Amino acid sequence: MRTVDSLVELVGDTPLVRLRRFSAKVAPTILAKVEYLNPGGSVKDRIGLAMIEAAERDGLLGPGGTIVEPTSGNTGVGLAMVAIERGYRSVFVMPDKVSDEKVDLLRAYGAEVVVCPTAVEPDDPRSYYRTADRLTREISGAFQPNQYANDANPAAHEASTGPEIWEQTDGRIDVFVAGVGTGGTITGVGRYLKERNRDVHIVGADPEGSVYSGDEPRPYLVEGVGEDFWPSTFDAEVVDRFVRVSDRQSFLAARELAHTEGILTGGSCGTAAHAARVVAAEYPPDAVIVVLLPDSGRGYLSKLYNDDWMAANGFLDRRSGATRLATVVAAKQRRLPAIVHMHPDESVRQAIAILHEFDVSQMPVVKRDTVESRDDVIGSIHERGLLERVYRDPAVLDAAVADVMSRPLPMVDGRDTVESIMGWFTADEQAVLVCDGPVPNGVLTRSDVLDYLVGPS
Ligand SMILES: Cc1ncc(COP(=O)(O)O)c(C=O)c1O
Repeated sequence: MRTVDSLVELVGDTPLVRLRRFSAKVAPTILAKVEYLNPGGSVKDRIGLAMIEAAERDGLLGPGGTIVEPTSGNTGVGLAMVAIERGYRSVFVMPDKVSDEKVDLLRAYGAEVVVCPTAVEPDDPRSYYRTADRLTREISGAFQPNQYANDANPAAHEASTGPEIWEQTDGRIDVFVAGVGTGGTITGVGRYLKERNRDVHIVGADPEGSVYSGDEPRPYLVEGVGEDFWPSTFDAEVVDRFVRVSDRQSFLAARELAHTEGILTGGSCGTAAHAARVVAAEYPPDAVIVVLLPDSGRGYLSKLYNDDWMAANGFLDRRSGATRLATVVAAKQRRLPAIVHMHPDESVRQAIAILHEFDVSQMPVVKRDTVESRDDVIGSIHERGLLERVYRDPAVLDAAVADVMSRPLPMVDGRDTVESIMGWFTADEQAVLVCDGPVPNGVLTRSDVLDYLVGPS
């Protein structure tokens, strides 16, 4: 019978797929090493197994042990699968920029997950690196594989990924392209290939904002690649060149792979694929260019595969009547507080001051300090209405808002489209209150929608 005792035995031996349509604009046909066909869904299955086996060999991990690791998700799955097979507890520490899907995925494997702020220095005690260190100290029998400093990481790729690519290309490979996170993949594969043929060109694909390609470290949205420090698992000697790729280019390339090749991959795969196409443009038709695609797109459905998320982050110019109101509100809230509002007992004078401070012409009146439900909204204040009242009777300036307010703004749902409220705006309505289900989320005026449809200048 052809059976296996565990999925762990199926790690590796992933296929090399010709990207015929994705390569249409360049002479060579780029070949993709599709790592999401590993049982845990990413290239990290390879190092999960290797790092645990090395720790057991070195007596650092034994029966009843606990694995603690900082991870953007994929390494966690690779380790969790092996931990279950070996009877270890697993605790993973993640940056809060990763998608909910990735957090839920690790919990689905029965692992414990701790989420930490992304935008802190690597050495900040709140960072996911340092939090993992603290938990490793506090939990008895704990072992931290630490993929950023574990030689078993690049060694796993030198022992498996590199030989597979060499064998699958009959040793004819000219260029290998990969994203760089810990650097384990590109270092291990690069070392193996260069030992076979020194002329193989090793290209690193690096997001804008990462130090690898010499950029100023700053936040970016693509996950799993790029760094703001230099891990010891990365050997710069192996890499001949870096191609810097923006978040927009990464996400659009990943979507293109899905739409043209039916290969549903993550954002960092788009980073690598975009870089591979940039490099391929410099090579003749018979060049053999291999790009490694680390993971699956299933972990990014609420992000790069979500049009609203892409539009809200300016990666997708889908400015039309079909745009959801929540997207327009999200774009507006990048420059204004959520809901500029007043309370019934505040004075008209204060209301005018708020209107001017935030440069808005109307706002809702809410009965509580925070706007938690549609019922909290009891009226609205409009600059035009106030002008008439104050002009007729200046004493109104000291009246309570409750005495001069108008009826609440029409409330609409954030899932509705721009198209659906055009009727309001062409009639006499100046603004609507967009709600996220029962909770008011933001005011939209005619000029807000116009600004959005026009887009950034
Ligand atoms: C999605 C994704 N892409 C790419 C990489 C980079 O691989 P490496 O760490 O081997 O450089 C990682 C690593 O965590 C990853 O999770």
